[in-house]
Amino acid sequence: MNTTPPVIAIDGPVGSGKGTISRILARTLGWHLLDSGALYRLVALRMIQEKVSVDDSSTMVDIATIMDISFANTAKEQKIFLDSVDVTLDLRTEECGSVASKIASRPALRAALLKRQRAFLRLPGLVADGRDIGSVVFPDALFKIFLTASPEERASRRYKQLKQKGINVSLPDVLQKITQRDKRDVNRKVAPLKAASDAQIFDSTGAAPEDTADKILDSLKILGIPSAN
Ligand code: DC
Repeated sequence: MNTTPPVIAIDGPVGSGKGTISRILARTLGWHLLDSGALYRLVALRMIQEKVSVDDSSTMVDIATIMDISFANTAKEQKIFLDSVDVTLDLRTEECGSVASKIASRPALRAALLKRQRAFLRLPGLVADGRDIGSVVFPDALFKIFLTASPEERASRRYKQLKQKGINVSLPDVLQKITQRDKRDVNRKVAPLKAASDAQIFDSTGAAPEDTADKILDSLKILGIPSAN
């Protein structure tokens, strides 16, 4: 009997809605959740706090290996702790996202975080979102989704998210920053952002996250995965 927990892999660029949609799916299915970008952001945050250079591979690997992290999921949001300190808001700044994207090109860091990501796999199943979940982290995932949306809509979603969190930004600046970050994520040599060859592409432009999540849940029903509620 195969007892490996099933995985739903959701990859996509900044603002594609993967975080919100993954949370809805995990809650509806009663499965665990992995926000893999948060792991890259946690290393980035510690590096910013300790003024570590983005070229210092060995220190970033040490941080990735020993950092004490925990996640608390509520119905509305996910809280993230680094050494028992709530860093949920600190992780969302554009500075943290940009450093995360820069260090994400380091193979040694990716290898260190690969183990930590795979440790999230537990029964009854895992919804994991990121850039290389379907292609590298969980290549045997039961269901792979690549989420897209137009750059303008992605920028506008990101802008609203940051404003809601009280982070002061302008829309043109957000558009420029996400374009830069996507370019870096798509063009890096190791595990670039791309749709796995067996991923289903969902375009979420103009759709509410709940509607996209419903479409995905419909596809899952065909695979025999029932919702928990
Ligand atoms: O999903 P996010 O915006 O929180 O991710 C922040 C950065 O981390 C992203 O720009 C690239 C990197 N990342 C990655 O390389 N691979 C992943 N699976 C997730 C994130």
